[in-house]
Amino acid sequence: MHAEERPGGRPLVIAHRGASSLQPEHTLAAYTTAFDLGVDGIECDVRLTADHHLVCVHDRRANRTSNGTGVISTLELARLEELDWASWKVLDDGSAPEAADEDPERGRILTLRRLLTSLVDQNQELLTLIETKHPTRYGGLVERQLVTVLREFGLTIGDLPNLPHVRVMSFSLLALMRMRGLAPQIPLVYLVEAAAPRMSFDGSLPSGVNAVGLDVRIVRRSPSVVRAHQRRGHDVYVWTVNEREDVERCLELGVDVLISDRPRDVMALLD
Ligand code: G3P
Ligand code: CA
Repeated sequence: MHAEERPGGRPLVIAHRGASSLQPEHTLAAYTTAFDLGVDGIECDVRLTADHHLVCVHDRRANRTSNGTGVISTLELARLEELDWASWKVLDDGSAPEAADEDPERGRILTLRRLLTSLVDQNQELLTLIETKHPTRYGGLVERQLVTVLREFGLTIGDLPNLPHVRVMSFSLLALMRMRGLAPQIPLVYLVEAAAPRMSFDGSLPSGVNAVGLDVRIVRRSPSVVRAHQRRGHDVYVWTVNEREDVERCLELGVDVLISDRPRDVMALLD
């Protein structure tokens, strides 16, 4: 019995950092493009700024995905708002992504609040995977701020949430346990990377965790891990599924959720 409803038995397709092969990752355009593609859900990394705003950024530093530099957790939101988070992106063929001309918001840093506002405005039904990233200087503040923001969007601790499709993911078990304490009704996904110790590979998960998110390299070399988890009632998410062979492998194995930079291509393969 799995928590995620799989339309027609096929795996759910999640846009990783938005439709990040088509638009600059983690920009609003990446997410609205994903909505337009008809994905089943979105994935977003969150980090705390120096003034404790949650922003959607993968890397510890601003360098790769903006025209600025510096560690996100040491910069205030106002500084991140001054940067251009879109112009760095070049598509695989060397061209620039399709852009709505003169859109002043295009290169703007995306806060979690703006992303959730857009989700609520456009399509509340999407599965929303929020991954917390962890600079140690903030300890549990990341989770507390996340719960604060989710509450603003209707999540009341102890009641049924207004955002039933939110999942919180992390590589940090400590982070997941903090979330469990703050908002026990939100399902948790424990991320496991290929270099992780083998303890997770027998299908066991720490108590209170609902699902596992596996690095696709684990699934390539140890496919039996999918069944091992499902036998114990866990949903199995796999990232980052961009190649045809991996989509086919995951389909054969009955993976529940495919997280991809190329959701358009993955959905075309599943049709
Ligand atoms: O969806 C899980 C995946 O995003 C974890 O890896 O480095 O892309 O955040 P990363
Ligand atoms: Ca992520």
